[in-house]
Amino acid sequence: VGENLPRYRTFPRLAGECGGKNYHFVHSSADVDSVVNGTIRSAFEFSGQKCSACSRAYIPKSLWGQIKQGLVDKHRDIKVGDPGDFSIFLSAVIDKASFDRNKSYLEHAKSSSDIEVLAGGECDNSTGYFVQPTILECKDPQDKLMREEIFGPVLACYVYEDGDYKNVLKLINSTSEYGLTGSVFAKDESVIEEASSVLRNSAGNFYVNDKSTGSVVGQQWFGGSRKSGTNDKPGSPHYVLKWVSPQAIKRTKVPLTDWKYPSMK
Ligand SMILES: *[C@@H]1O[C@H](CO)[C@@H](O)[C@H](O)[C@H]1NC(C)=O
Ligand SMILES: *[C@@H]1O[C@H](CO)[C@@H](O)[C@H](O)[C@H]1NC(C)=O
Ligand SMILES: *[C@@H]1O[C@H](CO)[C@@H](O)[C@H](O)[C@H]1NC(C)=O
Ligand SMILES: *[C@@H]1O[C@H](CO)[C@@H](O)[C@H](O)[C@H]1NC(C)=O
Repeated sequence: VGENLPRYRTFPRLAGECGGKNYHFVHSSADVDSVVNGTIRSAFEFSGQKCSACSRAYIPKSLWGQIKQGLVDKHRDIKVGDPGDFSIFLSAVIDKASFDRNKSYLEHAKSSSDIEVLAGGECDNSTGYFVQPTILECKDPQDKLMREEIFGPVLACYVYEDGDYKNVLKLINSTSEYGLTGSVFAKDESVIEEASSVLRNSAGNFYVNDKSTGSVVGQQWFGGSRKSGTNDKPGSPHYVLKWVSPQAIKRTKVPLTDWKYPSMK
């Protein structure tokens, strides 16, 4: 835009919408079942090919046993295949380039000693570019699987000591360059308040006890900042304001009585 300014009659309005590295933050007061259902849905629907898909989850040690079991059990029921069959939950990724890159992330996961593959981890291009829904446990919260958007069916989980949750909130805020969506799962109201405050810049759409996907046009305005975009929230008054060109008008009731500054007298 800067380079082309001489060609424009007015400054262009830019609307940027990019990706996300969306999170589920789970507190020890959370309801395990809703975490498990919400995380499976958000991480794997449309093969994770949604800008708002959850791809990193932060889970307290005290709940990890139950949540891990829940995720792995539900994972067993997921059918991957031809989406013409309505019992199928997710299908192939879109092309060879996507498949190859998704595959390289899975290979990184399998070869890293800091990462455990809890479910999935395979991919197969013999009948289509199929990437299995994959659940990983990452010991390093800065691993690229916790930081980079994959836009595929890959969920990275980081398990933290329950008492360390305040630091985890800061970690979530600073781990990714994106700021699209995120969720807090907790029953403790003070934790919900604290998470909402610490994480206020990390997600344009912030969910409480709900999955990080599925905003409805006309109900939840959507968009994020940081590298996720210009956060224009289509459907909202903020969005309309972006495209108008305001003009300020001043009409005086007291015309200028002298051209000189008072100091000149
Ligand atoms: C989670 O999903 C299962 C079905 O897969 C359902 O039976 C259960 O009630 C759900 N629990 C919650 C809290 O959503
Ligand atoms: C993974 O596959 C998805 C779906 O086709 C694709 O959009 C995405 O770019 C792939 N991820 C990478 C890192 O290439
Ligand atoms: C499938 O993957 C193999 C190994 O990565 C590659 O050699 C082959 O060209 C791929 N086939 C298709 C159809 O992309
Ligand atoms: C969140 O991250 C931003 C950008 O790195 C930083 O400016 C801000 O202070 C952080 N917020 C908190 C509460 O740590």
